[in-house]
Amino acid sequence: MAEALRVGIAGLGTVGASVARVLRDKAAELTRQCGRDVIVTAVSARDQKRDRGVDLSSAKWFDDPVKMAQAAEIDVFVELIGGDEGPARSSVKAALEAGRHVVTANKALLAKHGVALAEIAEKKGVLLNYEAAVAGGIPVIKTMREAMAGNSVTRVFGILNGTCNYILTRMEAEGISFDACLKDAQRLGYAEADPTFDIEGQDTAHKLSILTSLAFGTRIAANDIYMEGISNITQADIRAAGDLGYRIKLLGVAQRTESGIEQRVHPTMVPTASVIAQVHGVTNAVAIETDILGELLLSGPGAGGNATASAVIGDIADIAKSRPGFQHGPVFGRPAKELKPYKKAQMRSHAGGYFIRLTVHDRIGVFAAIAKRMADNDISLESIVQHAVNGEAAAQKTVILVTHETTEAAVRKAVDGITKDGHLTDKPQVIRIERAG
Ligand SMILES: NC(=O)c1ccc[n+]([C@@H]2O[C@H](COP(=O)([O-])OP(=O)(O)OC[C@H]3O[C@@H](n4cnc5c(N)ncnc54)[C@H](OP(=O)(O)O)[C@@H]3O)[C@@H](O)[C@H]2O)c1
Repeated sequence: MAEALRVGIAGLGTVGASVARVLRDKAAELTRQCGRDVIVTAVSARDQKRDRGVDLSSAKWFDDPVKMAQAAEIDVFVELIGGDEGPARSSVKAALEAGRHVVTANKALLAKHGVALAEIAEKKGVLLNYEAAVAGGIPVIKTMREAMAGNSVTRVFGILNGTCNYILTRMEAEGISFDACLKDAQRLGYAEADPTFDIEGQDTAHKLSILTSLAFGTRIAANDIYMEGISNITQADIRAAGDLGYRIKLLGVAQRTESGIEQRVHPTMVPTASVIAQVHGVTNAVAIETDILGELLLSGPGAGGNATASAVIGDIADIAKSRPGFQHGPVFGRPAKELKPYKKAQMRSHAGGYFIRLTVHDRIGVFAAIAKRMADNDISLESIVQHAVNGEAAAQKTVILVTHETTEAAVRKAVDGITKDGHLTDKPQVIRIERAG
């Protein structure tokens, strides 16, 4: 049997401790699958005394993950610290430069420094595997990197943040407010104490930027993503969406258009009958559309110790099975130096259907004025309905418009015009409608 693969784990929190536990519990099975033993020979975290729920006494302890990355005791450096700078970045860089394979679950690091790190890995002839960085346990990276050769991707979109999907699912199922759902998500450990990163779309954007690069062969451009979170979604939106046959999801969407690549993260209305609309709670899903395959949808657990560990261990097993001297495939599906510059499509040119909810003074002429603003901007309406705002029938009305395909620029101009007309009593709500099968 080949020599054992020696693994160093940096970060022994939710994911790191799970990885160590599964490597121990499934050691015999992994040996059979990989044709060699996979053993943890080194670990690093901040607090050596903390009980990790798994016996790590046979592994060498390192206070400094950079030292561990360079140590002779390991063949693979597994980074599970997190963060786009600091010890995560310096240790991954050190490991690659020392010719060690790297496995990481760190989307923030890859979104910011992924291409530079890929260049080092490819120069050194080592693997940089990151399956757990996008959609946790769902094998989307492997699918896009290895199983789609020859396909041209036209669009990739998904539910990439379990916290947001949990909140939207409960808001719809139980009729409770965004704030109440968020508090529950925090109590149950689905949302961080500071949930901004999740609910304002940043976490989804990081994951989307990696998928975009794999889909379109472009350099990662995480700062060029149009982003709106879910904190403005109200019960009125959820109910209106339901009445119209839609469900609201926070989607990350990357799409090839005539003017460039659209990367956007925002609340989206998807048809209730579509497959992605059936993805509930903390579950994640990714849809990939290509010219040859058509549409593929992968769904499953997007976070949590065990689900994420499953992806990390799959990456480690791939390294254990790789043959010495074998030329590894490029990190982002194409050699890092050949990734094309990312050509951003302007959000104003985004084409699609729109849901617009307006709260207006209940007076004569308002309805006609709204319809005129739409017509002036060449927006054709699929439906327009008005009804009284709960309990305030005399003073205000809600007007809900659904447009046929139009552009973002036209919708913004029309809504600005309606706002200037002085008919609104509250901020207008605009939600994009996404085509989904
Ligand atoms: N949690 C999930 O469900 C999930 C899902 C997908 C991807 N991820 C990604 O996986 C990574 C880890 O997430 P996590 O949830 O496991 O985080 P976590 O529970 O906060 O664990 C972080 C670990 O890093 C260690 N650490 C922090 N600073 C360090 C340093 N300077 N040197 C050495 N170790 C250091 C901590 O040590 P101490 O324990 O001693 O403080 C802790 O063990 C992140 O990149 C995250 O985005 C997580």
